Amino acid sequence: MEMSMRDLRTISVFAVIGALLPATSIAQPVDGQKAFQQRCAACHSVVSGQNKIGPHLAGLIGRKAGTAKDARYSKAMLASGIIWTAQTLDAYLLAPAKVVPGTQMMVGAPNVVDRTAIIAYLGSGK
Ligand code: HEC
Repeated sequence: MEMSMRDLRTISVFAVIGALLPATSIAQPVDGQKAFQQRCAACHSVVSGQNKIGPHLAGLIGRKAGTAKDARYSKAMLASGIIWTAQTLDAYLLAPAKVVPGTQMMVGAPNVVDRTAIIAYLGSGK
């Protein structure tokens, strides 16, 4: 059964609530930049125009999927029509192949605390 974006959003909202309650009680904020370095930087740069295996992620929020200049994309990503927002990113990073079947990006950030910190970092304009 296919999950819709709406299902994924609903699930991720509850996942965020569920994960943040214990996380705040131990007061261990995750450093988004550090989590990005660990999980994403092997394939992505946040410097505009610097494509690696994956497209550069500068100015990602508000950008249309598949539009980083000179980056290589799957047909699936090019045809996805996604606009990257905190919500679409959350769903994609949780389960890339469910949101973009046929994507070449195999691993996202399954841990909700890391994922939320990375999304905040990518949205911070750094
Ligand atoms: C092993 C390499 C690899 C890792 C690690 C990786 N990605 Fe990717 N990423 C890719 C590739 C390749 C693509 C292009 C996918 C496609 O075209 O289907 C991509 C695409 C993307 C896109 C779409 C960008 C656009 O221009 O439309 C986003 C957003 C993204 N990745 C974010 C992340 C984040 C955040 C992380 C860390 C949690 C991450 N990626 C980890 C390889 C990777």
